[in-house]
Amino acid sequence: MTPAAPPLPRVFAHRCGGALAPENTLAGLRAAAARGFTAVEFDVMLSADGTPVLIHDETLERTTNGRGRVCETPDAVLFALDAGGGERIPTLAEAAALCAELGLFANIEIKPAAGYELATGETVASFVADHWRGVPPLLSSFSRQALAAARRVAPQLRYGLLFEAVPRNWRRQMDEVGATTLHCAADCVRDTTIAAAAVAGVPVLCYTVNDPQAAQRLFARGVSGLFTDRLDPRDPLAAVA
Ligand code: G3P
Ligand code: MG
Repeated sequence: MTPAAPPLPRVFAHRCGGALAPENTLAGLRAAAARGFTAVEFDVMLSADGTPVLIHDETLERTTNGRGRVCETPDAVLFALDAGGGERIPTLAEAAALCAELGLFANIEIKPAAGYELATGETVASFVADHWRGVPPLLSSFSRQALAAARRVAPQLRYGLLFEAVPRNWRRQMDEVGATTLHCAADCVRDTTIAAAAVAGVPVLCYTVNDPQAAQRLFARGVSGLFTDRLDPRDPLAAVA
């Protein structure tokens, strides 16, 4: 018999440390842990050398002092950039080691550059399967191609399918890629979707929720977890177990 999956954390610091530190950095992971978060979400993309690194955008301009596409930038250039406050762009390996050290549960969002869906899914999943220490992370993506590729490599891991607004055929889309958690934008999640997901035993996780009362309302409506840039997990309104 397959053992039941452990319950997911209710509150995830978004992009490592939310607003506490530059996004998708090791400083963000440290800040999240110091603030009392037990779980983090971060975005992973491939460099030109195929190294999985933490970054949100396909291009470097918004979050670093570099220019151009991440997937066309070699590691030697990428790791010399400032990703904010003197932080470097971390590799997935560095983030994994720090999550293990800090005892952080991770939701790794596979964020492939266009055209790199299969390679990104496969690389992230095989890294996690071979090297992750501690509780295995939840892998999620907006890209069904990336998720399907990841699951072919590591079917033993947990997968979440990301949407902005949830489409009517969400269940079929999740089944096709073997996803077991449904991730969507908080401002357009419908009660009918939350109810149908509850019947199906599918946890619903919402992004991005920065107001404690809004968090409380989402939990009361049956949402299982949320991603935040600002909530303090010690705030009783965040209802963190
Ligand atoms: O995984 C939840 C959330 O991070 C999705 O949106 O654009 O912040 O990666 P984004
Ligand atoms: Mg993300």
